[in-house]
Amino acid sequence: MTIKNKGLNFFATSPKGLELLLVDELKNLGAAEANEKLAGVTFSGDLEVGYKACLWSRFANRILLFLKSEPVVTPEELYTATQSIHWDEHLSTESTLAVHCVCQQSEITHSLFAAQKVKDAIVDQLRDKYGTRPNVDREQPDVSIYVYIYRNEAFIYLDLSGESLHRRGYRLAGGAAPLKENLAAAVLQRANWPEIAKAGGTLMDPMCGSGTLLIEGALMAGDIAPGLLREYFGFLGWKQHEANLWQRLKDEAELRRAQGMQHIPTIVGYDQNPDAIHIAFDNIERAGLHGKIHVEKRDLMQFAPKSQVKHGLVVTNPPYGERLGELEMLQPLYTLLGEKLKEHFEGWQAAVLTGNPDLGKQMGLRANHYYALFNGPIPCKLLLFSITRDYFFDRSPQAENERRIKAAQRVAQLDDNIQMFVNRLAKNLKHYSKRASKQGLERYTVYDADLPEYAFLIELTLTEAYVIEYQAPKSIDKQKALQRQQQVLAVLPEALGVSPRDIFFSVQSRKK
Ligand SMILES: C[S@@+](CC[C@H](N)C(=O)[O-])C[C@H]1O[C@@H](n2cnc3c(N)ncnc32)[C@H](O)[C@@H]1O
Repeated sequence: MTIKNKGLNFFATSPKGLELLLVDELKNLGAAEANEKLAGVTFSGDLEVGYKACLWSRFANRILLFLKSEPVVTPEELYTATQSIHWDEHLSTESTLAVHCVCQQSEITHSLFAAQKVKDAIVDQLRDKYGTRPNVDREQPDVSIYVYIYRNEAFIYLDLSGESLHRRGYRLAGGAAPLKENLAAAVLQRANWPEIAKAGGTLMDPMCGSGTLLIEGALMAGDIAPGLLREYFGFLGWKQHEANLWQRLKDEAELRRAQGMQHIPTIVGYDQNPDAIHIAFDNIERAGLHGKIHVEKRDLMQFAPKSQVKHGLVVTNPPYGERLGELEMLQPLYTLLGEKLKEHFEGWQAAVLTGNPDLGKQMGLRANHYYALFNGPIPCKLLLFSITRDYFFDRSPQAENERRIKAAQRVAQLDDNIQMFVNRLAKNLKHYSKRASKQGLERYTVYDADLPEYAFLIELTLTEAYVIEYQAPKSIDKQKALQRQQQVLAVLPEALGVSPRDIFFSVQSRKK
C-alpha cells in the first residue's frame, strides 16, 4: 500500500507574515482545507497538489508531506515512533538521506541529537531488514526527512521541496542585503502587482540591488512557475515519486511560460552601484528573462518614468540602516524618493519595504495601507501608497513648524499666566522693533526669559521668528514644562504677527 493512493496531508512552511497569502495561493493550486498556522499552512490533497505547490508556490519555503505524529518525551520514544513508519516504502538501501529536526517547548531540546536519533531509527530498520543501510548526504539527499517536535509531540514529514523553495535557481551571488525571493513575491502580491501587470502597468525599482523584485515581478506577470528553473527537489529520489505526473506538470508550466512571456509589461530597475547592476543583469539572464527587464546604473536623483508611461507600480526596498547614525544619513534618501514619486509618478502606485517605518515618514506621503513582514529576523513594514495629491504632505521645516503650532493650538489650555507672557512680549516688541529699525538690524532679540517661568529666547527677522526654549531643569515637573511650551507656541503667531510656517522652534540646554 503506497502513500499516494491515500488523501495526503501537508504542511507548507513560510516566512512569518506570509501565511494568509500562502493559504490563498495553495487553494488556487487545488489544496483542500488550507489553514493558517504560525509561519506555515496545513493543507490536504493528492500528490499532484503537493507537486504543484513545489512547482508553483511563490510564497512557501518548504512543502512537507505528513507521515506520522506521536507523543514523545524521551529520545528513545522518538526512536520508536520513527520506527513505526515503513521506511522501505520511501527509500531503498542505495538511497541517500538527510534528517532535519526542530524542537520547541519540549523535553527533547537538542535538535541535532534528535535528528541523529531519527536517522538511526531509519537506517537500523532498513539494515535489520536488508542487511545494508542508506547513507547520509546533507547537501542533496534522495530523501529528506523533516521532524518538528512541538510540546512533546513529534511530527514526522517527508520534505518534498528538499531545499527551501525561495531558492529559485536564478540567483547565485547576492549583492548587498538581497531580499529573499518569496518575500519579494509577497511584497508584489500585496502591492497588487498581478492586477497592475494585467492592465499593462509598468514596474520600476529605483534601488533594485540584485534585481529580486524585478525578476519576481516578471515571473508573476509572465505566469512563470518559480520552480521551473530548479533542478533539485526532495521528491526526485523518493521511492514513490511519480515521474510521469511531475513531467506533465512541468510540461504544462513550460507551455504557460511560453504564452506568458508575451505578456510581460515594461520592467525597469536602477541602482547607483554598478556591481549591483552587474549582479542583477546576470540574475535576469539566469532566470531566462533576457530582454524582458531593463537594468541600468542610475542614481535616485535621476529617477523618472519614460514620458509616455501613465501608470504602474514603483516598488523598492531602500537601505534602512541598522546602526545609529546611519539613520540620519538615510533620511534625505527617503525624502528624495518621496519627492521623485510626487514629481513624476502621479497616478501610479508605490510600495516601499523598510525595516524602519520612521524613515518611511520622511517621504512626505501618507501610506494608504501597510503590512508587517519579516526580512529574515528583521521586522519590516511594507508601506503602500497611491501617488495622488490627497496623500501628499509637505516635509519642509516651514510645514513642520506649522504642524507643530497647530497641534499646540489644539491642545493648549490658556490661563492668566500666559496672558502675562503675551503682555510682556507686546511691550518688548514695541520697544525693540523701534530700536532695531533705527539701527538697521536684520535680526534682533525681543524676549530672553524675561519672566523666569517662561524660559524662552525669541529672535525676530523681518518675516521669521526663531524660538529657543531653554531646557527646563530636572526639578521642574515635565508635564508643567510641556504645558508652558504648548501655551507659548499656541499664542506666538498672533502675538508676533508671524505666520506659523515661519516660526522655527528648538530646545537647547541652558549652557549652550
Ligand atoms: C537593500 S538594497 C536592495 C536589495 C534588493 N531589493 C535586492 O533584492 O537585491 C538597497 C539598494 O539601494 C541602492 N541605493 C542606495 N542609495 C541609492 C541611490 N541614491 N540611488 C540609487 N540606488 C541607491 C544600494 O546600492 C542597494 O543596492
